[in-house]
Amino acid sequence: MVVALGTTTRAPAGKVPSKRFPGATRRVRTRCGVAPGKQDGCTASRRDALRLGALLAALSQIGSQAACGKDAATAVAQVEAEANSVLRAATSKEVAAIADGLSVVNKGKAPALLRLVFHDAGTYERSTGRGGSNGSVRFELDRPESRGLKRGLNVVEAVKKRIRAKSKVDLSYADLIVVLGAWAVKACGGPEIEVLLGRRDSSVADAENMIPDENLPVVGIKDAFSRMGLDTRDLVALSGSHALGGKGFGDPLTFDNEYYKTILKKPWLNKKDEMAQMIGIPSDRVLPDDPECRKIVKEFADDEQKFFQQFTESYSKMATLGYKLGGA
Ligand code: HEM
Repeated sequence: MVVALGTTTRAPAGKVPSKRFPGATRRVRTRCGVAPGKQDGCTASRRDALRLGALLAALSQIGSQAACGKDAATAVAQVEAEANSVLRAATSKEVAAIADGLSVVNKGKAPALLRLVFHDAGTYERSTGRGGSNGSVRFELDRPESRGLKRGLNVVEAVKKRIRAKSKVDLSYADLIVVLGAWAVKACGGPEIEVLLGRRDSSVADAENMIPDENLPVVGIKDAFSRMGLDTRDLVALSGSHALGGKGFGDPLTFDNEYYKTILKKPWLNKKDEMAQMIGIPSDRVLPDDPECRKIVKEFADDEQKFFQQFTESYSKMATLGYKLGGA
């Protein structure tokens, strides 16, 4: 997991100097391998800022304007301006605090932590701008789809408390959930994902019935992702998160492309092997039967790096859905 380092001042909501990311000088890596970024006093690179998906999020928000005939260059300039005015790079103090907080997190919690990111952000509704990556999952634990999420949230709480007490750093739940999810991926051997900060926490639960039911047909799952602003490549890449946990895709704590290799074989159809029949959940099993998804599944099964690349992009997209600026 990578937290981009940047300026020490927090930008007020909606008002960020346009020259926030004038260019990096050098990158530092902390003891726990957490943070290539910049030293205090330097500003984060523009590339860092865009990388986390702020650009993608901004794009999804103004895409409709571009489609309405706005000049493409103007649209891009607007996207860049938005990306610069949104999430920010972490300060070195925050990076150190996060590294210290992570030092007490057990790798065994990785599956629950990664899942939490989806349940927090996956309530996003692009058409209304409601829901998203806002920490509201902490008010949604009694919902049927939230079974097991408490384990992850307890870790978030513990890290939040620790970094506040030890380092006097206060991060929003929304930021910490994204940070810990990225950490989980990396800790289990997956790609390093850069994370920017500044999400504001919601003080209420998001709307119900937004997280797709595992028994939906593939078209229903695609629709649910599309409602969030995520496409089929995002769906297939993010579903690869199910490599973590106990659904039978190889080692439960190894983030790799075993998920795709396995679902192509459809082991759940094996009448003679009861264990094999337990592999995956319905939303995994529908992917190899849908021609559009199957093509992507094969791509990722054949090339783990492609999976990692797409996962990094899709995670960043998911982690910036519907955020509001002004995190703790
Ligand atoms: C496509 C729609 C999705 C559905 C219907 C779905 C549903 C589920 C369900 C029902 C479980 C519990 C499985 C069990 O232990 O019995 C689960 C686990 C998990 N999900 Fe998803 N999920 C979806 C997408 C995602 C996405 C996008 C992520 C990315 C963050 C994700 C991450 C995880 C992880 C890491 C676990 C394992 C959790 C653990 O073992 O503690 N899922 N999912």
